Amino acid sequence: MTAIDPKAILGDVSGGRVLDVATGTGSFVRFLLDGLRDHAEIVGIDANAERAAAFSVAFADRPDVRFVEMDAHRLAFPDGSFDTVCVSNSLHHFTDPAPVLAEMLRVRRPGGHLVVNEMYCDGQSETQATHVLLHHWWAAVNRLHGEVHRETYERGRIVEIVEGLGLADLRIVDLADPDEDPHDPEAAAELEAAIDRYVALADGQPELQARGEALRTRLRQVGVRGATQLVAIGRA
Ligand SMILES: C[S@@+](CC[C@H](N)C(=O)[O-])C[C@H]1O[C@@H](n2cnc3c(N)ncnc32)[C@H](O)[C@@H]1O
Repeated sequence: MTAIDPKAILGDVSGGRVLDVATGTGSFVRFLLDGLRDHAEIVGIDANAERAAAFSVAFADRPDVRFVEMDAHRLAFPDGSFDTVCVSNSLHHFTDPAPVLAEMLRVRRPGGHLVVNEMYCDGQSETQATHVLLHHWWAAVNRLHGEVHRETYERGRIVEIVEGLGLADLRIVDLADPDEDPHDPEAAAELEAAIDRYVALADGQPELQARGEALRTRLRQVGVRGATQLVAIGRA
């Protein structure tokens, strides 16, 4: 297990022109900015236009970072136009990750890097399991509203997916923060607010709402820490 130190993981990678697929509000872009040895530009794409505002605020002081609304299945970029392509915590948001990964490899230049970061569900501590269970409940509520959001993968399946891409120099690292306070008041308040939102979204589904309330109790009693994530970095 490695502590979360972006420089230790990405410090030997010159990013060049970087694409972050399914960037959301850009939390992995922050990881890239902290970790990569250098870069020319970072483009974050996401299908959800509502993410653009928060992304733009987060990187208002960074002319080298921009957001484009786009579906990951049809990247509107020429072949080989990026040096580094990344996807973080989103493989389980696609019906099938294979076509998205194929698109990412198409727009990456030969010899460029691919970075996959994905949390997984197995082998987690009791406090980390709270994070996984919350995630799986959020996914069930999202599916109720027609969104593609599956439960997170087991670690072995993520390894299988990245090994299947035939990358060279593949490095796989498991990341978690050993110093995270499982009862951090700020994190707990944010999660309780998220539980409130999702209980409201599950209106008319008493079983799903009860699952949320049980998770609220677990959060208060057991606490929560971020689930361990797998980071895979390879070249072609
Ligand atoms: C859990 S968020 C991950 C955000 C960010 N990458 C991170 O690591 O925090 C998943 C993101 O995938 C995006 N997404 C889902 N399907 C997509 C698609 N087909 N094309 C582009 N983005 C998509 C969602 O809009 C959401 O912002």
